[in-house]
Amino acid sequence: MASSSRDPRITDISDEAVRGTCDDASLCKRYAVNVGYWQDPYIEHFVRLPKERKAPEISRGYYARVQGVGHLLKAFLHKTQCNCQIINLGAGMDTLFWKLKDENLLPRKYFEVDFPSIVTRKIHTIKSKPPLSKPIMESHSGESLLIDAHSLDSSRYSIIGADLRDLPKLEENLKKCDMDPCLPTLLMAECVLIYMTHEHSTCLLKWVADMFRTAMFINYEQVNMADRFGQIMIENLQSRQCSLVGVEDCRSLDTQKARFLLNGWETANAADMVQVYRSLPPDDIKRIETLEFLDEKELLEQLMQHYCLCWATKDSSHLGLAEISL
Ligand SMILES: C[S@@+](CC[C@H](N)C(=O)[O-])C[C@H]1O[C@@H](n2cnc3c(N)ncnc32)[C@H](O)[C@@H]1O
Repeated sequence: MASSSRDPRITDISDEAVRGTCDDASLCKRYAVNVGYWQDPYIEHFVRLPKERKAPEISRGYYARVQGVGHLLKAFLHKTQCNCQIINLGAGMDTLFWKLKDENLLPRKYFEVDFPSIVTRKIHTIKSKPPLSKPIMESHSGESLLIDAHSLDSSRYSIIGADLRDLPKLEENLKKCDMDPCLPTLLMAECVLIYMTHEHSTCLLKWVADMFRTAMFINYEQVNMADRFGQIMIENLQSRQCSLVGVEDCRSLDTQKARFLLNGWETANAADMVQVYRSLPPDDIKRIETLEFLDEKELLEQLMQHYCLCWATKDSSHLGLAEISL
């Protein structure tokens, strides 16, 4: 870990592998959408349908993740009556902006941040696909929309190319796109913090807590990583040059909560994905469990024990954010 931060060549290789995880996530989502787990008419523009079959365990896991994050996110939008902003950290090819617009649930402004090379790809795709660019134009008002290779800034949606480990630059870029520190703010990170060292992710969580008076953070990522199954997950990624340098915060639900409570947040909750799955509406579970045959549930259970949702709040405006639960 120490040597990777000293040797720029090693950092470059592992950053490249981290950027590659963006494609893994969108391929799995595209596959699950195609089987019918949930609807997303936008993901097909970002990624081709994979040729090989994905295991049903993977798709069910993604279903629980998308529904769990969506549930917490909608609770925040409800508490703030959409008078808020969302900052999606390490957003990759996420399609949430378009889905919220379709549901008439857009916040005042929706920001995405990812490495510049990922952002360049995303902007290129948006520019060349009218089903993606039209909703951005429709929600835009005022002066002309700013768009270049590394950023897009419209009145309701901004995409920023930045490294989450460089906080002064991140802050400068967000402010250039009219981020408002006084507005209730939801930050989301799905499988992102684990790719940053403990020091970097701690600084990020503290920076958010210092910046926003009223905020919620939704973090989805690995947990219970100290056991044998966790070890195998680490080794699998390491074999692709992708090291989980932030794994020490993913030891347990308690370590996931502690990183918030020790860094300026008032409340923190965490649930593994077994709990999240069980909290989903029974009719939804029944529907998705008929989509694909799952021989035995043990692997699904193990996988879901190794991912979690953690959400933290600070609420100077007394909006009742601490009441948000699964
Ligand atoms: C596993 S992907 C998840 C993408 C998206 N959140 C999703 O769930 O579909 C992780 C993303 O985090 C981004 N990321 C990781 N570390 C980052 C950093 N230091 N700065 C900016 N982006 C980062 C990667 O480029 C990648 O797009």
